[in-house]
Amino acid sequence: MVEKALNFIDGQWSWPKGAKALASVNPADHRDIVCEAPDTLAAEVDRAVQAARRAFPAWRRTPAPERAKIIRRAGEIMARRKAELGRLVTRECGKPLTEGLGDVQESIDMAEMAAGEGRRLYGETTPSELPSRMCFTVREPVGVCGLITPWNFPTAIPAWKSLHALICGNTVVLKPAEDTPMCAVEFVKALEEAGIPAGVVNLVHGQGKTAGRALSAHPGVSLMSFTGSTHTGTAVATLCAESGKRVSLECGGKNAQIVLADADLDLALEGALWGAFGTAGQRCTATSRLLLDESIHDEMVDRLIKQARRLKLGAGLEKGTQVGPLINERQMKRVLDYIQAGTKGGAALRCGGKRARGADVARGWFVEPTIFTGVTRKMRIFREEIFGPVLSIVKVSGLADAIETLNDCAYGLSSSIYTRDVNSALTAVRDIEAGIVYVNGPTIGAEVHLPFGGIKGSGNGHREAGKTGLDIFTEWKTVYIDYSGKLQRAQIDNS
Ligand code: UN1
Repeated sequence: MVEKALNFIDGQWSWPKGAKALASVNPADHRDIVCEAPDTLAAEVDRAVQAARRAFPAWRRTPAPERAKIIRRAGEIMARRKAELGRLVTRECGKPLTEGLGDVQESIDMAEMAAGEGRRLYGETTPSELPSRMCFTVREPVGVCGLITPWNFPTAIPAWKSLHALICGNTVVLKPAEDTPMCAVEFVKALEEAGIPAGVVNLVHGQGKTAGRALSAHPGVSLMSFTGSTHTGTAVATLCAESGKRVSLECGGKNAQIVLADADLDLALEGALWGAFGTAGQRCTATSRLLLDESIHDEMVDRLIKQARRLKLGAGLEKGTQVGPLINERQMKRVLDYIQAGTKGGAALRCGGKRARGADVARGWFVEPTIFTGVTRKMRIFREEIFGPVLSIVKVSGLADAIETLNDCAYGLSSSIYTRDVNSALTAVRDIEAGIVYVNGPTIGAEVHLPFGGIKGSGNGHREAGKTGLDIFTEWKTVYIDYSGKLQRAQIDNS
């Protein structure tokens, strides 16, 4: 019998009556059904929101260091179960086991980070312009937070969002991606085992157009935090505007790595391979464009193609696998369509370009690591997010041209420059239009205690993780205490 991924509402696991079952399939082998999850409808989403609302007053009054204890314990539970959870991540979302384990590690790191905030959550004090008056600020929770998370980091992104929301005193309703419901179940189970009170964390499965829409439109939700495509993010933000919610979006990217003539080419090569083909290119931070200085272009392209051809495709649980499958058939087709668009648009297909063949990959959604050269700025493969193992290479001439080419983009999430010249590096740091810049490292690899997010089409001005994540999930309250015993009027001449 197929395992069921249940909803978790008000401390109880349940399958909503009448909900259609959605299969979660191992993307490396579509015969392997990981579980079935309910496509939760609006009435059940409402039940989850009501539970979160009821739990909110007590949770917000629970001292933050006490909230932190539960979060820390959840982190310890995930650390204890890391091997098993990592295998589940790999089975359900396809990435190689090292990366599955990395996903779980990111959740553990986030628990450590959020728990530490339980003893900070600092506000500010400042002198008053009036005598005998004290001024300070405190952070307050926002209320019920609706969280919609993608499948590519199926424990880490739920952890980023919910652990920050929880430490700030909010209650949450999590709607994970329909491709990875079991990973979300196991994440929530860690919180349950850690002692999270009933109703503080709720989990509803389902599609965006059912559960996601109901959550985003629900008047009882105060804030939505979304990670996914720019297209869906815009739809979520529209629902939030209509229902008067705060909304934080982490959307797409079209991240570029620049390699200048003076770069350590071995390092740049390794970085490009990992950035473009790690997680089969399915990261919002993936390297999708490689901007090579003309003087090193041909050499780099030759070496890159040789190495990309050698990458081992396969099921993530197989030893030695370097590139896993795409998440589902639809995504595979979408990526293959982009490859076609690349060829039709006039780029030179130099490596890969097809669905992978062979006995070990025949039952999965594998696409060969693909490299295009001769890519120009007008082409779709230069401009649009592909979310697959496809790298578009552009020849550039020097630093200024490289930066201008990088910035000619509707997105601005991550970026990278390889150079040994400090002036070039710092000029790039100053002039690149992106939320994240790496120097001599690939475009992927963000750490949880630094702000994460982008500009332009990549987001709407918020930064998750780090200290800035707290700003998403709190409101400021400004407090004035007058101990003069008389009426003092600000801005009015009191003499
Ligand atoms: C994402 O792809 O949505 O920096 C997040 C990275 C990861 C997070 C990626 N730590 O690539």
